[in-house]
Amino acid sequence: MNVGIIGSGTMGSGIAQVAATADCTVKLYDTNQEALGKAKSALEKILLRLIEKGRINTEEKNRIQSNISYVDNLKDLSDSDLTIEAIVENLNIKKKVFSELETYVSDDCIIASNTSSLSIASIAASLERPERCVGIHFFNPAPLMKLVEVIPAIQTSKEVLDKSVKTIKDWKKVVAVAKDTPGFIVNRVARPFYGEALRVYEEGIADFATIDAAMKSVGGFRMGPFELMDFIGNDVN
Ligand SMILES: NC(=O)c1ccc[n+]([C@@H]2O[C@H](COP(=O)([O-])OP(=O)(O)OC[C@H]3O[C@@H](n4cnc5c(N)ncnc54)[C@H](O)[C@@H]3O)[C@@H](O)[C@H]2O)c1
Repeated sequence: MNVGIIGSGTMGSGIAQVAATADCTVKLYDTNQEALGKAKSALEKILLRLIEKGRINTEEKNRIQSNISYVDNLKDLSDSDLTIEAIVENLNIKKKVFSELETYVSDDCIIASNTSSLSIASIAASLERPERCVGIHFFNPAPLMKLVEVIPAIQTSKEVLDKSVKTIKDWKKVVAVAKDTPGFIVNRVARPFYGEALRVYEEGIADFATIDAAMKSVGGFRMGPFELMDFIGNDVN
């Protein structure tokens, strides 16, 4: 399967690694050359670490890397069967990229967004064939997090939804199909976690480090709310 990833930042580079590991032919696209270079060297480091840990061998590292090419022209994604967009969280910019992309790809190509919170129906509305649009929402870091939310918009065809779910399962992920509502499932449930933590801080009950430590040691969370907000990035969350 040919997979085009749009945006080679935190999420795009992780999703590219997942797809390449599943033996897809991946083209990772970004307008920023520096971001492409960073994605390439970050993947080298990650795979070397996996070799050190004994999880993969050099042959596997080479296989994954040879499945990915780095491109700076959206037209290069024209032979994609599936594209997943992971650029800046801005509806107008995403819509512009989607409508341009549609002029290059075949009619069968699925055009997906990894948006955390924007309406998939609004993004789909930028396409001539909105039934090919779907949300495919990975969590950070994509190669480690098992869950992926798949979000059909009101326009999404059943065929596109079914194909998307099958593909993500083939990539060894656990799929949750969610309705196209703000925050989908996980981010919606997580909002009160962040919100209450901010309130606890604002009321002077404890500082950031104490709240994080309490949630980790008593609450059993892997990361405290402030650590998690920093990790995800408040601008994209
Ligand atoms: N960071 C997270 O934890 C997380 C988790 C799930 C989903 N998301 C979503 O994934 C998307 C990307 O988030 P991120 O954290 O990877 O962002 P990021 O800032 O790390 O990467 C975005 C990349 O997109 C590129 N870009 C920006 N505009 C572009 C354009 N018009 N064409 C091509 N490339 C462009 C940038 O150069 C950058 O490399 C957002 O929609 C975000 O909501 C983020």
